[in-house]
Amino acid sequence: MTASNQEVSLGMPQLPAPAYPADVLGRLEADAKEVIARYPGSRSALLPLLHLVQAEEGFVSRTGMAFCADRLGLTTAEVTAVATFYSMYRRRPSGDYQVGVCTNTLCAVMGGDAIFDRLKEHLGVGNDETTDDGKVTLEHIECNAACDFAPVVMVNWEFFDNQTPESATRLVDDLLAGRTVEPTRGAPLCTYKETSRILAGFPDTRPGAVEASGGAGAASLVGLKLAKGEAAPHARVVGQRGEAPSAQPQKGAEHLSSHDAPQQTSDSDPDNPAGPAAEEGK
Ligand code: FES
Repeated sequence: MTASNQEVSLGMPQLPAPAYPADVLGRLEADAKEVIARYPGSRSALLPLLHLVQAEEGFVSRTGMAFCADRLGLTTAEVTAVATFYSMYRRRPSGDYQVGVCTNTLCAVMGGDAIFDRLKEHLGVGNDETTDDGKVTLEHIECNAACDFAPVVMVNWEFFDNQTPESATRLVDDLLAGRTVEPTRGAPLCTYKETSRILAGFPDTRPGAVEASGGAGAASLVGLKLAKGEAAPHARVVGQRGEAPSAQPQKGAEHLSSHDAPQQTSDSDPDNPAGPAAEEGK
């Protein structure tokens, strides 16, 4: 154990972090070597290395932080500062599926707060808490740049668009029951550990995953067209509030998964239907 690996917390020396079992350490060392070799300066590899150790245990443990510090010639204080700054690193054991409900401004007013409250009640857990079976961790998340699909729920950072309390409840029930869950767009869903390994920069070898992960969603493309001053004949991506879903599939709607909500996402202002839908007939 080097001096850099000694855990120090506000003047209170702590016991050294427990060691990884030999087989785990061997595997991590080989993977870490590959990650570090990608960068001209080894300390630049800290973020992917934190994802790598998170892929091992499902969170960034003291052992994981000591491992990163050792490999990169950093102090554990430096590694801890980074690991605690970014919310994508967990600091304690949690569920296979992180269900993040966006409660930033736009999602909140479009129903994100109601979704979070419903899930809290349905799952019997609060923010950053995990169900007893260890499957689902519920979290408030910040804006994930998917405001055009508000309110958004993310499971292990995959998108579930235009959610409602009812559709989000079905989603978590499927996760708890082990049923297949398909994100609205992007790659197929995997566990948090598997997601962390992909974020460490290792290829996603699942069939079809790479092909599925590219491309913007339909609502974003409509916004791009409008921003360029081009006509967007199929601009109606979000339905009129209170209106039954159209019998005619809308262009771009074919990507919707079985976990998308019907496209009425808020009834807070029935006199003023929102966005492109309202503009379409003008
Ligand atoms: S406010 Fe929720 S994705 Fe932007």
